[in-house]
Amino acid sequence: MRTVLGVAGGIAAYKAAHIVRRLRELEHSVKVVPTANALNFIGAPTFEALSGQSVTTDVFAEVEDVNHVRIGQEAELVIIAPATANLIAKIAAGIADDLLTATVLTTTAEVVVAPAMHTEMWHNPATVANIATLRSRGVHVLEPAVGRLTGPDSGPGRLPEPEDIVAFALSAKEGARGAVAAGGEEPPPTAGGLAGRRIVISAGGTREALDPVRFLGNRSSGKQGIALARAARAAGSQVELVAANIDSGLLRTLPADIDVQHVESTLELQAAMRAAQSDADALIMAAAVADYRPAATAESKMKKSGDDGLTLRLVQNPDILRGLVDDRPESQIIVGFAAETGDPDTAAVDYARAKFLRKGVDLLVFNDVSSDRAFGHDHTAVQIIGSRAGETFVGEEFHGTKDDVSQKVIEAVIDQLTHVESTT
Ligand code: CTP
Repeated sequence: MRTVLGVAGGIAAYKAAHIVRRLRELEHSVKVVPTANALNFIGAPTFEALSGQSVTTDVFAEVEDVNHVRIGQEAELVIIAPATANLIAKIAAGIADDLLTATVLTTTAEVVVAPAMHTEMWHNPATVANIATLRSRGVHVLEPAVGRLTGPDSGPGRLPEPEDIVAFALSAKEGARGAVAAGGEEPPPTAGGLAGRRIVISAGGTREALDPVRFLGNRSSGKQGIALARAARAAGSQVELVAANIDSGLLRTLPADIDVQHVESTLELQAAMRAAQSDADALIMAAAVADYRPAATAESKMKKSGDDGLTLRLVQNPDILRGLVDDRPESQIIVGFAAETGDPDTAAVDYARAKFLRKGVDLLVFNDVSSDRAFGHDHTAVQIIGSRAGETFVGEEFHGTKDDVSQKVIEAVIDQLTHVESTT
């Protein structure tokens, strides 16, 4: 796909290098069009090396190629990341005083904008109105993430992670293609191996309330489950995501036709999964589930009670996966996840193999977290454990982004569904 990456002059411009790399991995031809200010934050040679194409900001460079109209006309997708308040204002007003704004004005491709700015600028009525204008014209605007900004402040305004921007842009492009297809002008997108299927995926991490303001929880971001939901959708499935405490910015990167159910605690997650089980072809438990919860939840905020410390009594939570396996309808595929560490006596993979057998799942996606590779990071390494003809098999270690891993898991699910059907 011919993709233009516009880069405006904000501190997050450096993250655009990762976006170029990700798009190149997905075999896009990437033309980077920075503003002159963007090049104060990151150099043109970086973009040239990563994209393999020349970089210019100026409508008077390479004039014989008529770049100021050609780049926009030829683009199949335009992504602007980061988009500053200033650039957003110019686009909303139809100003074309440099190569990037001229490109946006000439293109008929889908335009995706990922704003990044200080919270005050994001909330300013001028920016709010400009964003509304862009959205009303069909521009896809990704909400900024909440978090640390340049300097000591934090709030909404952070550029989302490069991988999430790319995923959002691709679903925007895919959605537009589907809409054109519905109007009959283009053939519908090819159905993937999950067309006509329904997949239910849990993601995130459960929280167990101690009192109205405190909880016991874990560090799972939900990125893996979100990536799985996108991959399953891309393969043609109907997808329901049961989301345990996932950042709303991350949830916004999902295609709009994925059903999202919000849950907080393990018992809520269990109820949602049980309710969704009966008409699902496959269940994927990617959520990190709290094994224990407080025996009692205080109704009002707990107070300090002296110097003796605090003892909490915890009770065990149900094993959701085990229950789903016990009650599954015939030919439903169930996938579990296991993050394991090894010890001097037992390798992590052996713990995973034992868990595969104990849980009774069809597939177990195992990753070795001994080396701090999993939580919140974009790259991961997994092995898929399954069984054929009564023999347990452990797949080769597969390295990649969470999107790549999800692709692999979804392929394994398709394989398993096909296998079950051919043997029943
Ligand atoms: N899981 C679940 N219910 C639980 C705990 C885990 O459904 N109460 C699911 C997770 O979503 C994951 C798989 O089981 O798909 C393995 O999670 P893990 O925490 O490794 O399993 P545990 O059964 O808690 O194993 P351990 O005894 O090693 O803690």
